[in-house]
Amino acid sequence: MEGIEIRRLMTDQDANGDVDVDVDLAALSALFESVGMRKRSPSAMRAALAGSSDVVVAYQAETLVGIGRLVSDRVYYGGIWDVAVRPDLQSKGIGSRILNELLVCAKARGLIMIGLFTAHHNRNFYEQFGFQFRPDIHAMTLTADNARGGFAAHLKENSDE
Ligand SMILES: CC(C)(COP(=O)(O)OP(=O)(O)OC[C@H]1O[C@@H](n2cnc3c(N)ncnc32)[C@H](O)[C@@H]1OP(=O)(O)O)[C@@H](O)C(=O)NCCC(=O)NCCS
Repeated sequence: MEGIEIRRLMTDQDANGDVDVDVDLAALSALFESVGMRKRSPSAMRAALAGSSDVVVAYQAETLVGIGRLVSDRVYYGGIWDVAVRPDLQSKGIGSRILNELLVCAKARGLIMIGLFTAHHNRNFYEQFGFQFRPDIHAMTLTADNARGGFAAHLKENSDE
């Protein structure tokens, strides 16, 4: 689609250890909400972006219309998170351009494996880039607010003490 610009946000620390997250965080929060993803506070999202090895955004003129991020150790492993394209602009190739750019980042870093969680109906989107559904691997998650009490409910006594 013409008129869409794909940009990388720089999230590597500068010499002072600072990270400049150059994105409108309110617009980002609105974008996540528009695709049904959970609402984020600007300060938490700024920290999450700064902690991501690679963040790719899509703009139409100067309006944020898409994002995706790679959370990696910058050497071996990474995960793709928060891929979102504004609903009225979906199925026009923007998500593919974002994902492609994230994979360029992963390759440049020399990562050996990338994983992700996604809904079943998004499989085609990722499979076009070679991601494979792995029936031999089980996704296991523990969420902070699950009905069984979250992380704290499952902690073991520290046996070292
Ligand atoms: C998933 C998402 C990021 C894809 O972005 P997009 O810009 O719509 O994707 P593209 O136009 O680049 O899609 C390229 C191809 O991937 C496939 N594809 C994309 N989304 C798909 C979907 N939901 N189901 C099946 N195939 C899909 C199609 O083959 C599509 O080609 P098409 O144009 O012929 O349909 C976007 O639909 C989105 O924001 N969805 C809501 C949020 C979400 O689920 N994010 C993923 C979290 S892991």
